Amino acid sequence: MSELDDPALVGPAVRPRRLRTTAALRRMVSETIVRPHQLVLPLFVREGLDQPRPIRSMPGVVQHSRSSLLAAVNEAAELGLGGVMLFGIPEHKDANGSGAVDPAGVLNLAITDVVGEVGDALTVMSDLCLDEFTDHGHCGLLSADGRVDNDKTLVAYAEMARAQAHAGVNTVGPSGMMDGQVAVIRAALDESEHTDVSILAYSAKYASAFYGPFREAVDSSLEGDRRTYQQDAGNAREGVREALLDVEEGADMVMVKPALAYLDVVRRVRDAVDVPVAAYNISGEYSMLEAAAAQGWIDREPAILETLTSIRRAGADVVLTYWAAEAARLLR
Ligand code: PBG
Repeated sequence: MSELDDPALVGPAVRPRRLRTTAALRRMVSETIVRPHQLVLPLFVREGLDQPRPIRSMPGVVQHSRSSLLAAVNEAAELGLGGVMLFGIPEHKDANGSGAVDPAGVLNLAITDVVGEVGDALTVMSDLCLDEFTDHGHCGLLSADGRVDNDKTLVAYAEMARAQAHAGVNTVGPSGMMDGQVAVIRAALDESEHTDVSILAYSAKYASAFYGPFREAVDSSLEGDRRTYQQDAGNAREGVREALLDVEEGADMVMVKPALAYLDVVRRVRDAVDVPVAAYNISGEYSMLEAAAAQGWIDREPAILETLTSIRRAGADVVLTYWAAEAARLLR
């Protein structure tokens, strides 16, 4: 018996490596793709700025002035992004977050500006939540005893939805995790003849330490936490339940947030619903990678693309990411 007749020495009959021999072959058999049109760029616009202001904890991300915001959305449209998600930071906050419903409030003005600038070239979306506008920093209105009052908040959300729709938004993104918010917002939109305005529901939104840098990005005044409305990190089944409820209430798309520490929830929600699923690659996920790259500890660009691929592979159809514009450039 020659050596070649010994099966142990002939080698494996099945060789998955064969499909990895050339870049063209690897590309051809790639299961997961990331394309610019699947990416949404979150943008911050701050009242009273005449220059963009850097966000210290998110290197490369800024609070925009009204005019620098327009440059950013033009670039996003040229790069073929799917859309932008707008967040407004008012100069004055109050207990009711009245800047959120004011037609001349920073976010509502920004919506009109952006839609006027890019038209249908981008999906223009807006955060529908009170936390940027309240002096206590909570996503909802407080009752006399200081708790977040679910049903009182719903009334404010309905008004905010009407204001954003009136400003011209394509899609509202309720992110406050109040029970019944999607149904109330859908009804408010329909009654005000905004039946075409869609809802991207932040359905499974977890109380996360990774939101840290965002709190600086929006000058949050929150003390304490959001654990009475955002979900507990251990609960995946509940995330699916929240997503199913939102679909029932009329959500056109659902979202899981954060993304990276919750990729299992992204997969479970993707398998459970029949609407598009988005995932939000949040501030802390951005800043951790940027910080490590700045130290020279990881190779930044491949790490960005690998991150976005992982979120897509988990099942997200759409990814909100602060790297959207840069990733689109890398993917060209
Ligand atoms: C609430 C909202 C938050 C984020 C998006 N919408 C903050 C929070 O819930 O505390 C976080 C986004 C990020 O961290 O990138 N309006």
